[in-house]
Amino acid sequence: MRVVVLISGRGSNLQALLEAALPVEFACVISNQTAAQGLEIAAAHGVPTRVLNHRDYADRAAFDTALAAEIDLHAPDLVVLAGFMRVLSDSFVRHYERRLINIHPALLPAFPGLNTHERAIAGGVKLHGCTVHFVTTEVDAGPILVQAAVPVLPADTPASLAARVLRQEHRIFPLALRWIAQGRLVWRADGGVYADGLAEAASAVLVSPNE
Ligand code: GRF
Repeated sequence: MRVVVLISGRGSNLQALLEAALPVEFACVISNQTAAQGLEIAAAHGVPTRVLNHRDYADRAAFDTALAAEIDLHAPDLVVLAGFMRVLSDSFVRHYERRLINIHPALLPAFPGLNTHERAIAGGVKLHGCTVHFVTTEVDAGPILVQAAVPVLPADTPASLAARVLRQEHRIFPLALRWIAQGRLVWRADGGVYADGLAEAASAVLVSPNE
């Protein structure tokens, strides 16, 4: 399975994917930010990198068209959004229908959008977490592949909660990608995600932390 990863910054999720010895080929890592640390992580793993700075394009449509052209040079079976901080146009998302996944730092459908950890604390929720999902034209709303939950503790700050969630992101993103590569996570016609043949079926879509 050929995989193209899109990033905007730190790249810790990219690193978790690259270090997981997955049965995939990372064809390219593309960033919309020149200074993204993740570019160095990709290079250190021998993965080709490209930068497409969205500020160089007249509007979202022009950037998304150029981005898709760059991605398609690598003929990916799957495009992975790993901290890619740009909303993608409907036509882009439709072009990659069923082969575009994202990681979101909340238990969707709770807290789509930005500042999820601040909002989880302000909302008084006792459980928070992260979600790997297929991307559809509705932002942060596609079929859920895998989630991990963590407690929200009384002394938590957004930073401490983010760190706890991030450790789980680094577990479930490689897990989801491995299961997709193995053909074991199937997006059914009725919209649900079926964990096909997983021995771990009972826990296939919810991973609880064991820390
Ligand atoms: C992660 O929290 C991810 O869930 C969100 O953006 C952050 C990216 O972090 N979409 P990193 O670049 O992978 O370290």
